[in-house]
Amino acid sequence: MEQSNNKPIVAIIMGSDSDLLVMSEAVKILDEIGIPNETTIVSAHRTPERMNEYTKSAVNRGIKVIIAGAGGSAHLPGMVSSHTTLPVIGVPVKTKSLDGLDSLLSIVQMPPGIPVATVTINGAKNAGLLAARIIGASDKSIQEKLEKYKTDLKNMVMEKIELLDKIGVKDYLDKNK
Ligand code: RP5
Repeated sequence: MEQSNNKPIVAIIMGSDSDLLVMSEAVKILDEIGIPNETTIVSAHRTPERMNEYTKSAVNRGIKVIIAGAGGSAHLPGMVSSHTTLPVIGVPVKTKSLDGLDSLLSIVQMPPGIPVATVTINGAKNAGLLAARIIGASDKSIQEKLEKYKTDLKNMVMEKIELLDKIGVKDYLDKNK
Protein backbone atom coordinates (compact mmCIF):
# COMPACT_ATOMS: atom_id res chain seq x y z
CA MET A 1 0.00 0.00 0.00
CA GLU A 2 1.34 3.46 -0.91
CA GLN A 3 1.92 5.90 1.95
CA SER A 4 -0.12 9.06 1.53
CA ASN A 5 0.89 11.11 4.59
CA ASN A 6 3.74 11.59 7.01
CA LYS A 7 2.34 9.56 9.89
CA PRO A 8 5.13 7.37 11.30
CA ILE A 9 4.91 3.75 10.22
CA VAL A 10 8.21 2.59 11.74
CA ALA A 11 8.94 3.08 15.43
CA ILE A 12 12.54 3.22 16.59
CA ILE A 13 12.81 2.74 20.32
CA MET A 14 15.72 2.20 22.66
CA GLY A 15 16.40 1.54 26.31
CA SER A 16 18.42 4.68 26.97
CA ASP A 17 19.65 7.90 25.40
CA SER A 18 23.08 6.26 25.48
CA ASP A 19 21.79 4.04 22.62
CA LEU A 20 20.77 7.01 20.49
CA LEU A 21 23.95 7.44 18.45
CA VAL A 22 23.88 3.79 17.37
CA MET A 23 20.12 3.82 16.72
CA SER A 24 20.30 7.05 14.71
CA GLU A 25 21.65 4.94 11.81
CA ALA A 26 18.17 3.39 11.49
CA VAL A 27 16.61 6.86 11.45
CA LYS A 28 19.07 8.02 8.78
CA ILE A 29 18.41 5.17 6.36
CA LEU A 30 14.62 5.32 6.85
CA ASP A 31 14.70 9.07 6.19
CA GLU A 32 16.84 8.46 3.10
CA ILE A 33 14.34 5.92 1.76
CA GLY A 34 11.44 8.19 2.69
CA ILE A 35 9.69 6.11 5.31
CA PRO A 36 8.02 8.19 8.06
CA ASN A 37 9.38 7.14 11.43
CA GLU A 38 9.38 8.12 15.09
CA THR A 39 12.11 7.78 17.70
CA THR A 40 11.80 7.60 21.46
CA ILE A 41 13.23 6.10 24.63
CA VAL A 42 11.35 3.18 26.16
CA SER A 43 13.05 1.17 28.86
CA ALA A 44 11.92 -2.35 29.70
CA HIS A 45 13.43 -2.09 33.16
CA ARG A 46 13.16 1.60 34.09
CA THR A 47 9.80 2.44 32.47
CA PRO A 48 7.97 -0.91 32.22
CA GLU A 49 4.46 0.63 32.23
CA ARG A 50 5.44 3.01 29.42
CA MET A 51 6.81 0.04 27.46
CA ASN A 52 3.47 -1.78 27.78
CA GLU A 53 1.40 1.28 26.82
CA TYR A 54 3.66 2.34 23.97
CA THR A 55 3.79 -1.15 22.47
CA LYS A 56 0.09 -1.91 22.83
CA SER A 57 -0.92 1.40 21.23
CA ALA A 58 1.58 1.11 18.35
CA VAL A 59 -0.61 -0.88 15.96
CA ASN A 60 -3.59 1.49 16.43
CA ARG A 61 -1.35 4.47 15.76
CA GLY A 62 -0.44 3.02 12.35
CA ILE A 63 3.00 1.62 13.22
CA LYS A 64 3.88 -1.35 11.02
CA VAL A 65 7.35 -2.30 12.26
CA ILE A 66 9.12 -1.71 15.57
CA ILE A 67 12.90 -1.47 15.76
CA ALA A 68 14.07 -1.87 19.35
CA GLY A 69 17.65 -1.35 20.45
CA ALA A 70 19.09 -2.13 23.86
CA GLY A 71 22.34 -3.01 25.54
CA GLY A 72 23.42 -5.28 28.39
CA SER A 73 20.46 -7.22 29.79
CA ALA A 74 18.68 -6.24 26.63
CA HIS A 75 15.10 -7.31 27.34
CA LEU A 76 13.35 -4.50 25.44
CA PRO A 77 12.96 -6.13 21.98
CA GLY A 78 11.70 -9.42 23.43
CA MET A 79 9.30 -7.81 25.88
CA VAL A 80 7.98 -5.50 23.16
CA SER A 81 7.41 -8.52 20.92
CA SER A 82 5.45 -10.20 23.71
CA HIS A 83 3.04 -7.23 23.77
CA THR A 84 2.35 -6.96 20.01
CA THR A 85 1.85 -8.89 16.79
CA LEU A 86 3.84 -6.31 14.81
CA PRO A 87 7.24 -7.39 13.46
CA VAL A 88 9.97 -6.47 15.93
CA ILE A 89 13.60 -6.03 14.88
CA GLY A 90 16.13 -6.15 17.70
CA VAL A 91 19.39 -4.22 17.68
CA PRO A 92 21.98 -5.40 20.21
CA VAL A 93 23.85 -2.29 21.33
CA LYS A 94 27.57 -2.68 22.05
CA THR A 95 28.41 -2.49 25.75
CA LYS A 96 31.64 -1.48 27.49
CA SER A 97 31.95 -4.55 29.68
CA LEU A 98 31.16 -7.43 27.28
CA ASP A 99 31.43 -5.78 23.85
CA GLY A 100 27.74 -6.32 23.13
CA LEU A 101 27.81 -10.10 23.34
CA ASP A 102 25.53 -9.79 26.38
CA SER A 103 23.09 -7.65 24.34
CA LEU A 104 23.23 -10.03 21.37
CA LEU A 105 22.53 -13.15 23.41
CA SER A 106 19.78 -11.42 25.41
CA ILE A 107 17.97 -10.46 22.21
CA VAL A 108 18.61 -13.40 19.89
CA GLN A 109 17.57 -16.32 22.12
CA MET A 110 13.80 -15.80 22.07
CA PRO A 111 11.48 -18.65 23.05
CA PRO A 112 9.42 -20.22 20.22
CA GLY A 113 6.23 -18.23 19.65
CA ILE A 114 7.62 -14.74 20.35
CA PRO A 115 9.85 -13.73 17.44
CA VAL A 116 12.46 -10.98 17.28
CA ALA A 117 14.49 -10.52 14.08
CA THR A 118 17.93 -9.81 15.50
CA VAL A 119 20.54 -7.89 13.51
CA THR A 120 24.26 -7.60 14.23
CA ILE A 121 25.74 -5.78 17.23
CA ASN A 122 25.18 -2.05 16.51
CA GLY A 123 23.43 -3.09 13.27
CA ALA A 124 20.85 -0.29 13.30
CA LYS A 125 21.36 0.50 9.61
CA ASN A 126 20.40 -3.03 8.60
CA ALA A 127 17.48 -2.89 11.04
CA GLY A 128 16.25 0.18 9.15
CA LEU A 129 16.74 -1.56 5.81
CA LEU A 130 14.95 -4.68 7.03
CA ALA A 131 12.04 -2.54 8.22
CA ALA A 132 12.00 -0.87 4.79
CA ARG A 133 11.89 -4.28 3.10
CA ILE A 134 8.95 -5.34 5.27
CA ILE A 135 7.12 -2.13 4.34
CA GLY A 136 8.26 -2.52 0.71
CA ALA A 137 6.66 -5.95 0.41
CA SER A 138 3.30 -4.16 0.05
CA ASP A 139 4.48 -0.75 -1.23
CA LYS A 140 5.79 -0.51 -4.79
CA SER A 141 7.38 2.93 -4.37
CA ILE A 142 9.45 1.71 -1.40
CA GLN A 143 10.40 -1.42 -3.35
CA GLU A 144 11.70 0.78 -6.17
CA LYS A 145 13.75 2.88 -3.75
CA LEU A 146 15.26 -0.28 -2.28
CA GLU A 147 16.14 -1.49 -5.80
CA LYS A 148 17.91 1.81 -6.43
CA TYR A 149 19.71 1.53 -3.10
CA LYS A 150 21.02 -1.91 -4.10
CA THR A 151 22.07 -0.68 -7.55
CA ASP A 152 23.92 2.29 -6.02
CA LEU A 153 25.69 -0.07 -3.62
CA LYS A 154 26.77 -2.33 -6.49
CA ASN A 155 28.00 0.64 -8.54
CA MET A 156 30.03 1.88 -5.60
CA VAL A 157 31.80 -1.49 -5.33
CA MET A 158 32.32 -1.65 -9.12
CA GLU A 159 34.02 1.76 -9.01
CA LYS A 160 36.37 0.50 -6.29
CA ILE A 161 37.18 -2.62 -8.32
CA GLU A 162 38.00 -0.51 -11.38
CA LEU A 163 40.19 1.87 -9.36
CA LEU A 164 42.07 -1.03 -7.73
CA ASP A 165 42.67 -2.57 -11.17
CA LYS A 166 43.84 0.77 -12.52
CA ILE A 167 46.22 2.01 -9.81
CA GLY A 168 47.22 -1.22 -8.00
CA VAL A 169 47.33 -2.19 -4.34
CA LYS A 170 50.01 0.23 -3.09
CA ASP A 171 48.52 3.41 -4.59
CA TYR A 172 45.01 2.33 -3.63
CA LEU A 173 46.05 1.93 0.01
CA ASP A 174 48.02 5.22 -0.05
CA LYS A 175 44.98 7.00 -1.51
CA ASN A 176 42.71 5.70 1.24
CA LYS A 177 45.09 6.50 4.13
C1 RP5 B 1 19.99 -0.62 28.61
O1 RP5 B 1 21.04 -0.35 29.47
C2 RP5 B 1 20.05 0.46 27.56
O2 RP5 B 1 19.54 -0.02 26.36
C3 RP5 B 1 21.50 0.82 27.48
O3 RP5 B 1 22.13 0.21 26.37
C4 RP5 B 1 22.08 0.23 28.76
C5 RP5 B 1 22.76 1.28 29.61
O4 RP5 B 1 21.87 2.32 29.87
P1 RP5 B 1 22.39 3.69 30.54
O5 RP5 B 1 22.89 3.31 31.90
O6 RP5 B 1 23.45 4.23 29.65
O7 RP5 B 1 21.18 4.60 30.61
O8 RP5 B 1 18.75 -0.59 29.24
